[in-house]
Amino acid sequence: MLWFEPLLLKVLHREYAASMHFAAADRPRLPAPTAQPCQLYVHVPFCQALCPFCSFHRVQFREEKAGVYFQALRAEIRSYHVRGFAFSDVYVGGGTPTIAPLELTRTLELIRSLWPVRTISVETNPNHLHEETFAALEAAGVGRVSVGVQSFDDQLLRQMQRYEPYGSGAQIRERLGTARGRFRTLNVDMIFNLPNQTLAMLERDLATLLELDVDQISFYPLMTASSARRRMDMTVGRVDPGRRHDFYERILETLRPHYSAASAWCFNRKPAAGCSADSPMIDEYIIDHGDYVGVGSGAFSYLGGSLYATTFSLNQYRRLIGEGRTAITQSKRFTFKERMRYEFLVRLFGLSLPYTEVRRKFGRAFWVYMAPELIAMRLIGAIRFAATRIELTRIGMYCWVLMMAEFFNAVNEFREQMRLHIRAELDEPPPHAARLPAAPTAAPEASR
Ligand SMILES: C[S@@+](CC[C@H](N)C(=O)[O-])C[C@H]1O[C@@H](n2cnc3c(N)ncnc32)[C@H](O)[C@@H]1O
Ligand code: SF4
Repeated sequence: MLWFEPLLLKVLHREYAASMHFAAADRPRLPAPTAQPCQLYVHVPFCQALCPFCSFHRVQFREEKAGVYFQALRAEIRSYHVRGFAFSDVYVGGGTPTIAPLELTRTLELIRSLWPVRTISVETNPNHLHEETFAALEAAGVGRVSVGVQSFDDQLLRQMQRYEPYGSGAQIRERLGTARGRFRTLNVDMIFNLPNQTLAMLERDLATLLELDVDQISFYPLMTASSARRRMDMTVGRVDPGRRHDFYERILETLRPHYSAASAWCFNRKPAAGCSADSPMIDEYIIDHGDYVGVGSGAFSYLGGSLYATTFSLNQYRRLIGEGRTAITQSKRFTFKERMRYEFLVRLFGLSLPYTEVRRKFGRAFWVYMAPELIAMRLIGAIRFAATRIELTRIGMYCWVLMMAEFFNAVNEFREQMRLHIRAELDEPPPHAARLPAAPTAAPEASR
C-alpha cells in the first residue's frame, strides 16, 4: 500500500459521496439536446444469475419481463429522437445485454434507423459466446464486444458464484478463442485484488490473457460500495486493500511489452511491427464523450454539467414511458467546481488533459479552483506538467485507479440505496443495510 493511500481514500470517499447526493426535494429537470451528437448509453438490467459482488442495476432474467422492458426502452429511445437529440456512438451495458438477443438486435436496428451511429459496443458474458450471438451482433453493426471474465481461476470463479452459470476457466478460454477476430475489438473484463486471490493466481490469469491475445483488457480493482460490504464479506469474502498496489504493478509490468494503456485500467494490444491496424475502440464512454444520455431503468445521463438518474423501478419505468413521460426521476446540477473536478477525474483517467481543453472549457479559473488538487497530485508525483498537457505518471495511474474506483463506489452506493425500495420487484432477499432514504417518486411532466 502506498503511504498516502488511506488519506487519499478518505478524502475521495467524502468528496464523491457528496457529489452523488441528490437532495430529496430536487425536482428532476429534463435534459436539453446537445449541439453536437453525443454518446448513447443503453441499460439492459437482466442477468441469468446475480453475482454477489456486483452493485450495478441488475435483475433476475424473466422472458416476459424482459419483453415488456425492451418495448419501453425502444419507446424511450424514440422520444429522444423526437426531442432533437443526436447520437454518434452507442454503448449497451448491463446486466447482460445479450440475454435476449432478438430484443437487443431490434433495439440496435431502431437506433441505426434513427441516427447514423459510428460505433456500437455491447457487454456480454462468456456463456453467450457462440455462433448465434456472433452472427446477430455482427448483423446489428456491433464493433466492440466486452466479455465479463473476472478470472480464469476455478476457485475464484466459484467464490464469485460465476462457475456454474458462466463456465469454468477452461470453458471461458475456449469460448474467447472462438470470438477472437470476429469483431473490431474483443475486450475482456477482469478483476484484481479478489479475496483469496494470490499473486500466482493473477500471474496465471495474465499468462492466459497473453496467450489468448485479445484486443483489449480492462482490469478493475474489486470495488465495494459500503452498503454492499456485508453481503460481499459473507459471500465473496473480505477485501484486503494492502495488496492492491502490488497486484496493479504486476499487471502493468506483464502487459506493458504487449499492450499500451488507454486509461488507467484499460489496455489495448499493440499492433504487430509494420502493421497499421485500427486502434481498438475505447472502453470508457465517459473519457472521450463529455456528454452522454443514458436510457433504460437505472441509467445515468450527464449533460451540460447536470447529472440525471432514471428510475430504478422497472414497473415505474414502464408506466412513465407508457404515459409518454420521462423516466428520469432525479437530477442534480453540478457546481462549477464539481464540473471541473469531474473533468479532471475522467480526462486524466484517460492519461492526459490538454491545456487547450482546459482553456476552452473553464478558462483561467481552472488553475485557481483546482490549485489544491493540482498541488497535492504534483507533490505525491501523480501528475506532471508537460509542454501541451497534464499527464499521469506511473504512480498517477495507480492513484487514478483508486480515484475512479472510489467514484464508482459512490455511484454504486447510490444504486444500492435506490434498489432498497424495490426489493420485491427485484426478486432479491432483504438486505442488511439499515439506512433508507426517501423514495424518489416525482417525475417531470411530459418529456416530448
Ligand atoms: C456490470 S458487468 C456487465 C456485463 C456482464 N454482465 C458481466 O458480468 O461482465 C461489467 C463488468 O463490471 C465489472 N464489475 C462488476 N462489479 C464489480 C465490482 N464490484 N468491482 C469491480 N468490477 C466489477 C466486472 O468486471 C464485469 O465484467
Ligand atoms: S457482474 Fe454481470 S452477470 Fe454478474 S450480476 Fe453484474 S451485471 Fe450481472
